[in-house]
Amino acid sequence: MHKKRVLSGVQPTGALHLGNWLGAIRNWVDLQKEYETYVCVVDLHAITVPHDPKKLKENTLSTAALYVACGMDPEQCSIFVQSHIPAHSELCWLLNCITPLNWMERMIQFKEKAIKQGDNVSIGLLDYPVLMAADILLYQADLVPVGEDQKQHLELARNIAQQRFNSRFGNEDFPILKVPKPLIIKDGAKIMSLCDGENKMSKSDPNENSRITLLDSPELIRKKIKKAKTDQHFGLEFGNPSRPEADNLLRIYSIVSGKKRETVEEECSNIGWGKFKPLLADAIISSIEPIQIKYNNLRKDPEELNQILSEGAKKASMLSNSTLQKIKTAFGFFQKTYI
Ligand code: TRP
Repeated sequence: MHKKRVLSGVQPTGALHLGNWLGAIRNWVDLQKEYETYVCVVDLHAITVPHDPKKLKENTLSTAALYVACGMDPEQCSIFVQSHIPAHSELCWLLNCITPLNWMERMIQFKEKAIKQGDNVSIGLLDYPVLMAADILLYQADLVPVGEDQKQHLELARNIAQQRFNSRFGNEDFPILKVPKPLIIKDGAKIMSLCDGENKMSKSDPNENSRITLLDSPELIRKKIKKAKTDQHFGLEFGNPSRPEADNLLRIYSIVSGKKRETVEEECSNIGWGKFKPLLADAIISSIEPIQIKYNNLRKDPEELNQILSEGAKKASMLSNSTLQKIKTAFGFFQKTYI
């Protein structure tokens, strides 16, 4: 039987943090064993808000290297850079022409990001979800691991594939595009900001103390944990809605220490924040250490990373070009017959 195919990606906008690792990449590492897995660094998405051209390349390389350092195995999955596969931009254009504008204007993330950009909202920001649909549909992905905040984007990709493309340009019995399904991870971890237990840990938060990146030094991690928001209560507990910070930090502690929830509950219900924080910092530091070692080794050898991305791009290119050709044929384009 054919393995089902999974595709996902993260934007190269600054170092990956605990939330990216525990909430996303850690799950991909398991998925690659069971599924045909494609993971990309979505650099075209990273320019939908104003970006620093001096940082884009480094952020792209570090994101790709962190995928590998976190356990994505180039032997088992394809790792590639989105902009290296021109089919993504090309399909985005084709899909733009069949996607109603009013579907885009109601995207929640667009509205949130647009507010922050003021007068400077680009067409690219509005188009972000169509580019994401192109990423997914090009690979005929069966499943896309997504968090809560990306569900609406995945729904859009499904609607474009089904209602706008297959039903108009395909044949009911042989739909051209696979309609992807969300892959909701059972005990997927949504990691919250260290400064506000009700907001997701995010790369775009201007406060750097709100997140721990996978490249932070042990000293910096200790400092950030020391500053993390607490509350007035003694003893930590999971799941108390009036204590979101306690729940978040305990969940992080449980995952990075590899201890069960019950064990953590027992260990931490009778200690104060002052005692808990150093335990948490140590556990984070030791869980990240192997990632940092692997990362540093990989970055010392640019040729190896290059090789990984070139192999990934080869596989991605084959698959995506074949889908793109089918779409262009269905659209009725005059296909070139000369070289
Ligand atoms: N929008 C996604 C995020 O911010 C990143 C992304 C781009 C993506 N293309 C994708 C995720 C395709 C899954 C599949 O998390």
